[in-house]
Amino acid sequence: MLAGKARCGLLMIYCCCAVLILMSAVCARGQGAVNDAGPSAFLQAKGRLDAAARRTTSRAERRKRQGKRLRAPDVIYYATPTDTVNEMLRLADIKPGDVLYDLGSGDGRIPITAARRYNIRAVGIDINPKMVWVSEERARGAGVADRVRFINEDMFRADISEATIVTLYLSRKLNLLLRPKLLSQLRPGTRILSHDFDMGDWKPEQKVRVPWFRGYRTIYVWIVPHYSH
Ligand SMILES: C[S@@+](CC[C@H](N)C(=O)[O-])C[C@H]1O[C@@H](n2cnc3c(N)ncnc32)[C@H](O)[C@@H]1O
Repeated sequence: MLAGKARCGLLMIYCCCAVLILMSAVCARGQGAVNDAGPSAFLQAKGRLDAAARRTTSRAERRKRQGKRLRAPDVIYYATPTDTVNEMLRLADIKPGDVLYDLGSGDGRIPITAARRYNIRAVGIDINPKMVWVSEERARGAGVADRVRFINEDMFRADISEATIVTLYLSRKLNLLLRPKLLSQLRPGTRILSHDFDMGDWKPEQKVRVPWFRGYRTIYVWIVPHYSH
C-alpha cells in the first residue's frame, strides 16, 4: 500500500517535471522566433535608415563644402611648423592696415595666426574645398572669423591685388610660375615670404633659417619693386 502511494507520488513528480520541461521548450522556441525575426528586422530597418541618413548628410555636406569643382591641387597639403609661422609673420614686418594673403592656405594657420596676433585682415586661398572648410572652422574656434576669409579657388586665377603681404609654402616650380602674377598684381612694397622655396634668379631681401628638429626651415623674403609695374 505504502509502496503504491510512493510510486504514485513519484509518477506525479515525473509528470510535473515533464510538463515544466515541455512548457519551457515551447517558451524557448517562441522567444527564439522573436529573437530571430525581431532583431534582424530591426537591424535591417535601422541599417536602411542609417544608410539613407549617411547618404543625405554626406551629399548635402559635400555639396555645401565643395561648392564648385576645381582641378587637382598642384601640391599636397603640408603644414608650416608653428615656429616657422611665427618667424614668417615677424619677418613680414606687419603694420596696422596690412592685408595678408596665403596662397595655398592649407588648414589656415598662417592667416589665422596673423589675424589673432597682429589684428590684421587675412585671406587664405586653397583649391581643396575640405581645407577651406577646416580653415573656416579653425578661424571660428580662434575667434577671428570676422577678420579672416577663406576662398576655395585656384591661386593662379585669384585676384590678389589687395594683398600687402603674401605667404607661400608651395614648391620652387610653383613659385616661378606664380612670379609673373605676383609682380604684375601686387603693389610695390608688398612683402612676399616663402617657406623653403626660392624664386630662381629673383634674389631675396632676406633668407632666414628657423631651427627644426635636427635641421632647419628656410624663410625667403622679397619686396615687390617699383619697376615691376
Ligand atoms: C604645402 S600646403 C601649405 C599650407 C599652408 N600654407 C601652410 O604653410 O601651412 C599647400 C596647399 O596648397 C594648396 N594648393 C595646391 N595647389 C593649389 C592651387 N593651384 N591653388 C590654391 N591652392 C592650392 C593645397 O591644397 C595645400 O593645402
